Amino acid sequence: MSDSQSHITFAAFDIEMCAEALARHGWYSCCDFLESETVTALRNEIIDLSQHGTLKKAAIGSGADIHAEVRGDFIQWIDEVTSSRHVQSYLRRIGDLSSELNRMLYCGIRRFEAHYALYPQGTVYQRHFDNFKGGNDRLFSCILYLNDDWTGSDGGALRLYHDGIHTDVLPHGGVFAIFRSDTMEHEVLPARRSRMSITGWMRRDM
Ligand code: OGA
Ligand code: MN
Repeated sequence: MSDSQSHITFAAFDIEMCAEALARHGWYSCCDFLESETVTALRNEIIDLSQHGTLKKAAIGSGADIHAEVRGDFIQWIDEVTSSRHVQSYLRRIGDLSSELNRMLYCGIRRFEAHYALYPQGTVYQRHFDNFKGGNDRLFSCILYLNDDWTGSDGGALRLYHDGIHTDVLPHGGVFAIFRSDTMEHEVLPARRSRMSITGWMRRDM
């Protein structure tokens, strides 16, 4: 058996399949979590932030350490109150998904935090967990990709390590990936273009 697989996400969002995949394998992805006009609007927002120099080099852990070789993205945290209506529609979708997952999997999600993220060409996020067991209160990592016309040769896949294999999810605009923050090791591979997303976490604390 091959130890890797490439995953092109054409699957339409399905809540039953999402809950089942999270429970069994710890991850799920789909291509149409949000309508394409909203994805385009969100892409324009992050391009704007980037051009105005508002995105800040991301740090690692709770300290302010910056190690660009470990993590190369530039981010801006989303403020629910001042966010645009496009961000609000994404947050509403995430709210609905959280309620469904709480109902179906009893997971106790209480809030969501998210930031825009831009990985300049060639940067990575080395293999890591988003939450060591008991380390913090992140339950699920959620990523909405915002890139136009992404192809396999652009690189930049999200590589998920699960069930003894790994799966690569390409960050094409509109693709949504969700995975367990505590058990799913993952990494961002280098890309030939800058790579944009909204990355967030469903949390159990208030
Ligand atoms: C992260 C992360 C993955 C991605 O921000 O912690 O792993 O595909 N992002 O952007
Ligand atoms: Mn991560």
